[in-house]
Amino acid sequence: MDRSPSPEFSPLAFDEGLTPLPEIKMSGTTALDFSGLLDEPVRLHEDLKTGCGGQLWPAGMVLAKHMLRYHRDKLHEARILELGAGGGLVGLAVAKGCRLGAPLYLTDQLEMEELMKHNVTLNGLDGQVEARILNWGEPLSQEIIDYKPDTILAADCVYFEPAFPLLMQTLKDLLELRPSTTVYFCFKKRRRADMQFLKAAKKAFEVVEVDDDDKPVYSREGLFLYRFQRKR
Ligand SMILES: C[S@@+](CC[C@H](N)C(=O)[O-])C[C@H]1O[C@@H](n2cnc3c(N)ncnc32)[C@H](O)[C@@H]1O
Repeated sequence: MDRSPSPEFSPLAFDEGLTPLPEIKMSGTTALDFSGLLDEPVRLHEDLKTGCGGQLWPAGMVLAKHMLRYHRDKLHEARILELGAGGGLVGLAVAKGCRLGAPLYLTDQLEMEELMKHNVTLNGLDGQVEARILNWGEPLSQEIIDYKPDTILAADCVYFEPAFPLLMQTLKDLLELRPSTTVYFCFKKRRRADMQFLKAAKKAFEVVEVDDDDKPVYSREGLFLYRFQRKR
């Protein structure tokens, strides 16, 4: 298996015929309260100079709002890990809104580590949120194995076909750690090939499309939200 990291991802790499391009910002700080779901907004510094994860992505917005709206009262005991966290929007929103009992792990490639750490501090979450490097397809670190996450968050991690097997391997490794682990997986279909990932996921895991009152709105924009669990 090719374990080399995904190349730099540019929003401009999308097939323009299929979807509108995200607005490209170079840097700045955005405050988001997810329609009042957060008393105190999450602040996100966006900076594209280290990679595509340095800006807000549509699936991140959908997944963060979903977790706050439907899961905030169930996550006090959860052990949460975010994959491909970018600037950390989803994990930071969950950590702000859910009074977690254990630290939440934001993970991404080395290039995003500084931005993740910056945003943890910006939100006053040092000690409650940890930023770590986790390259898909590579063996999990001992720290993550010992942490044994039971809730995995992944938003907009489907965009580069050669990375699909790497992401799939990491999801399998994480789901092996605990039989009850749930992955909340949100992505925007930009290319036909993106659905191949879902096809492979359905072979490997129990896959359920998640209900959400906003589904009619986000599905019109090609966004999908699924729950993956180990096959029984
Ligand atoms: C489109 S961004 C999404 C960022 C964030 N989840 C959001 O929704 O705003 C995809 C993220 O996946 C990360 N990524 C890509 N390939 C990866 C790999 N092989 N291992 C770990 N992370 C990877 C990128 O660095 C980037 O931050």
